[in-house]
Amino acid sequence: MSDFLSCQENKRMISCPNLAAYYSLPIHQKEKYLFEENVRLFFQELVSFESGDIVGPLKNAFWTGRPIDEVPGGLDAGLYLCSSSWFVKELIRNPGSSSALEKIYLQERLSGAMDMYFREASSARALINRLQAVIENSKEYCLEYVRKTDRDMHLLNLGSGPGRDVIKMSEDEELIRERTTIDCVDIDQWAIDRGKELVAKSGIDNVRFIQKDFRRLGHLGLSDYELVIGILCPLSHENGVALLRKFRKYLKPGARILAACLLEEMLEKDFFTAWLIYELTDWKLNFRRSGQLRKMFEEAGFVWLGSFTEKKYSGDTEMYEIGIGEA
Ligand SMILES: C[S@@+](CC[C@H](N)C(=O)[O-])C[C@H]1O[C@@H](n2cnc3c(N)ncnc32)[C@H](O)[C@@H]1O
Repeated sequence: MSDFLSCQENKRMISCPNLAAYYSLPIHQKEKYLFEENVRLFFQELVSFESGDIVGPLKNAFWTGRPIDEVPGGLDAGLYLCSSSWFVKELIRNPGSSSALEKIYLQERLSGAMDMYFREASSARALINRLQAVIENSKEYCLEYVRKTDRDMHLLNLGSGPGRDVIKMSEDEELIRERTTIDCVDIDQWAIDRGKELVAKSGIDNVRFIQKDFRRLGHLGLSDYELVIGILCPLSHENGVALLRKFRKYLKPGARILAACLLEEMLEKDFFTAWLIYELTDWKLNFRRSGQLRKMFEEAGFVWLGSFTEKKYSGDTEMYEIGIGEA
């Protein structure tokens, strides 16, 4: 509970200007988010099953744009939502944690109004769609590369989590299993252990896990392809460019990077979820305009080859831009 209080201290200045602009929308423009089916269900669950008024303070803070702990009853509402939600606690403990992503990817059933809400949010579906889009695009590229050049490939998955994307690519395609070696790099022990478990279950032997800070990789050798998924979203433009510049040094000249960023479209489509994440957890995301990722790539020294969104491959959301660059 004290974690919820300490993360309130850090959130007074919203650093993402696009998020700040949504906070300042007039009430009549914010209202539509509260009429979304899953938001209404969330409120119903809170009213039916929880003691005390949680919904009133939530609506008040959302409408006025005031920090949740500053509206009447808001502190108790925030403390309650934090203590009753696995997601909120996990994101406060480890913002950007891959264990939270795993629960979304697997659509795990968690009890409690808050966690049921997160599971059903369109932003959660966008994450699943992003995973699918990365798998499909990477599969196409790697197969084409191996067939055209007749060379084996080395892939780096930076901030891989348990590496679901590269494991699935390898499971799906014999050529990828046979002709690629893939190093998944993550700093988090849990992600590494989970990834090793998934690899053991699937029986593939081309995917390895390295527990390391991806900024200090040392001498792994230069790679042909790099995945950077779920890494840039909380970083400022400058820090994102600095990281991409570092990652470029791990690639052979002419090699390819795929890196994703969260778009302002998440605010347009699902501002209430973005607001809950900002108000309840310490995960400060940047919601970028399309075009900002290209600038980051170019400032980091990559040639911009284009981009796609998760919609191209999988369904009904369009909240991420996935850029393709050449080192
Ligand atoms: C949001 S998750 C993304 C996981 C995976 N790429 C995906 O798309 O499902 C971000 C991952 O980056 C890892 N990470 C964050 N900072 C890191 C660092 N400095 N070095 C290595 N891994 C890091 C975290 O541990 C976490 O597993």
